[in-house]
Amino acid sequence: PPVDTFDYIVFGGTGDLTMRKLLPALYYRFRDGQVPADARIIATARSPLSREEYQARAQQALQEHIPAASLEADTVSRFINLLYYVSLNGAEAQSHWADLRTLLDREPATRIRVYYLATSPALYGQICENLSKQGLVTKQSRVVLEKPIGTDLESANAINDSVGRHFPENHIFRIDHYLGKETVQNLIALRFANPVFERLWTSDAIDYVQITAAETVGVEGRGAYYDKSGCLRDMIQNHLLQVLCLVAMDPPVSLDADSVRNEKLKVLHALKPIKPSEVAIYTSRGQYMRGHVNGQTVGSYLEDLGEGVTSETETFVALKAEILSWRWGNVPFYLRSGKRMAEKCSEVVIQFKSAPWTIFSNRPAANRLIIRIQPDEGVMLSVSTKDPTPTDSLTLREADINIEFEKAFNIRYPDSYERLLLDVVRGDPILFIRRDEVEAAWKWIDPILQGWSKNEAPLEPYPAGTWGPEGARNLLAQSGHLWHEDM
Ligand code: BG6
Repeated sequence: PPVDTFDYIVFGGTGDLTMRKLLPALYYRFRDGQVPADARIIATARSPLSREEYQARAQQALQEHIPAASLEADTVSRFINLLYYVSLNGAEAQSHWADLRTLLDREPATRIRVYYLATSPALYGQICENLSKQGLVTKQSRVVLEKPIGTDLESANAINDSVGRHFPENHIFRIDHYLGKETVQNLIALRFANPVFERLWTSDAIDYVQITAAETVGVEGRGAYYDKSGCLRDMIQNHLLQVLCLVAMDPPVSLDADSVRNEKLKVLHALKPIKPSEVAIYTSRGQYMRGHVNGQTVGSYLEDLGEGVTSETETFVALKAEILSWRWGNVPFYLRSGKRMAEKCSEVVIQFKSAPWTIFSNRPAANRLIIRIQPDEGVMLSVSTKDPTPTDSLTLREADINIEFEKAFNIRYPDSYERLLLDVVRGDPILFIRRDEVEAAWKWIDPILQGWSKNEAPLEPYPAGTWGPEGARNLLAQSGHLWHEDM
C-alpha cells in the first residue's frame, strides 16, 4: 500500500548520492505503487537550474542506474513530474529560502516533510538552524542525516547537539544503509525465529566470527572526502559495527525500535576498549598499491588521489574486537573492510567449534555458517557428510546447505535505500541509528585513531586486487584462525 503523502526535500540534490541512490530508490517505490501520485520530491542545491533542467538530469540518472527493463516510459514521466528544484544554499541564512517556503506552502502544513541532508555533515547544524528560523520545521517534519556523523566523538556530539536544537530525537533519522540491506535485516529473522541457531549462538559453540565488507572499487571520484576519512571512519564505525551489533545482541523483547536499539547499544558498550598503545596487537591497516582487479590494471590510492599527493590514509582495516559478556567471552569478532580487494563481497562468517572427539579416520571440519549480505544474498551452512567415493572406511567430506534468496523467493532484491526512504515517511526508526549508538561507536573507535596517529601500527601497502596486507592475516594467525578465503 502507498505511504501517506509527503514532500521529500533533498539538500545536496544534484550530488552523487541523490542521483545514484535516492532517485532510483524513490523511482522503484513509485513504480511499485508505494509513493502517492501527489507526493513531491524537491531537490535543492546551489546550482542555478530550472525545474526542467533538473528533471532532465534526473531522467538521465535513472537511465544510468536502473536497467532499461525496469524503466517504463509512462512511469518514468509520471515520476519525473513529482520532481521540483529550488536553487538554495542551505547553509546560508540569506539564501533563497522564500522560494522553498512558497513551494512548501502550496500544500497544507500537516503534510509529512522529510528533510534529507545529503551534504557534508559539517553543514547539518546550519541547515537545521536555517530550516527552523524560516519556520519550515512543522510537527510533521523529519530530518535524515547521512553518515558519517562527525569524525570523532567530539565532532559527532557537536553535530547531534546542533541538529537536536531544532528536531526532537524521534524525528531525527540517522541512516546507515547497511541496515536497509535485506540480509542484514534477515539476521534478526534468522537468529530469533530459528531456535536451531539461537541455541548455539554463544561462546559454548562458536569459535570466532568474521564480518567482511570488501569492495573492488577504489576511491573513485571521492578522494576529497575519503582521504580525510579513511576506512575506519567510512565503513567500520558505522556499517560493520552495526552488523556486529545484530550478530551479537541478545534477543530484544519486541520488534519495537527502541527494544532493538537498546540491545544493540548494550553490545557497543560491552566492546572491550582497544587502547592507543594496543593498536598494533588488535588492528591492521593498509593502503592499496597498483595491482590487478578483475583482470584490469589499476593505479594505487595515491595515483587515484592525484599527482604529487602523499597520504597516510588507510583504505583497508582489519581488527579484532572482543565483547565482554557471558555470551561472548573469548569469542573474537574479526572485522575487516577495504577498497580494491580481490572480490566485492560482504558477509558474516560464524565459525563453530570443532567436534571434541572423532570416530572417523579424518577429522570433521568445524561447521561454518555464512550469511552473505552481497552479492548473491544467502545463507550457507557447511556440514560434514559421508564421502560418497567408495572406499573401505567411512570418510568425511564437506558439503553446503545453501539458500540463495533471490532464487528461493524469485523476486528482485530491493536496494537498501528503497526500504529506508519510506520508513522515514512511515516514521519507523527501527533501521536508523539512535544518538547514543553513534556516541558509543565513536567512543570505541577514537582510541584506535589515536593509536594510529601516533604510528603505533604501521600503514602496510597491499597490491590492489588482493585480500589486504599481511598484517590482516597475522591478526588471526596469532590465535590459529583463518580468514574465509584461506579456509
Ligand atoms: C558507503 C561508503 O557508506 O558505503 C563507501 O562511504 C562504500 O565508501 C559504500 O563504497 C559501500 O556500500 P555498498 O552498499 O556498496 O556495500
